[in-house]
Amino acid sequence: MKSEEIMDEKVLYTLNYGVYLISTKFQDKINGQIANVVFQVTSEPPKIAICLNKKNLTHLMILNSGIFNVSILGRSCNMKFIGKFGFKSGRDINKFEDVNYIIGKNGAPIVKDFSVAYLECEVEKMLDVGTHSLFIGKVTEGNFLNEDTPLTYSYYHSELKGKEPENAPTFVKKRKE
Ligand SMILES: Cc1cc2nc3c(=O)[nH]c(=O)nc-3n(C[C@H](O)[C@H](O)[C@H](O)COP(=O)(O)O)c2cc1C
Repeated sequence: MKSEEIMDEKVLYTLNYGVYLISTKFQDKINGQIANVVFQVTSEPPKIAICLNKKNLTHLMILNSGIFNVSILGRSCNMKFIGKFGFKSGRDINKFEDVNYIIGKNGAPIVKDFSVAYLECEVEKMLDVGTHSLFIGKVTEGNFLNEDTPLTYSYYHSELKGKEPENAPTFVKKRKE
């Protein structure tokens, strides 16, 4: 059943999220994408869940590599960076060209610029949720990078004037009122 048949879809807009860069490495290729659906699920041991669209290259690469990193983006992040990682695919471009990054212990990249902190994760479980997969990752490393305020999805919309990306789990097709 579609969400508009159940409720006023604006109810879903009241849920809060951050804005993150999910990155991975498979064979010789590194890639990453922006995600807003990222959350901690347990603390002992620390585990993180991410929800990725099955069409994304990052989804395919994480399926194969079993690892991912989360760079927690700060407010200093700009729309040029989000545009590249959030609206373009690594199938068409090398997203990490011209990006300041380090390689984590698991071999996947971590974005240095605009990141408040990062987490390195090993996939423990994957749940098929339809258009998307939920990956549960055990945290294997984590550290602070830059002093900044973590970027929220709400700030992304109100201050950076960011658009709703189609592949995000929270995307709602605009309908005529
Ligand atoms: C602010 C923002 C939030 C996003 N959130 C998600 C998300 O949670 N999950 C997802 O699969 N895609 C999300 N996306 C869309 C992906 O970043 C986008 O589809 C990307 O181009 C995929 O790149 P890839 O094919 O290189 O993996 C988001 C994009 C933006 C700009």
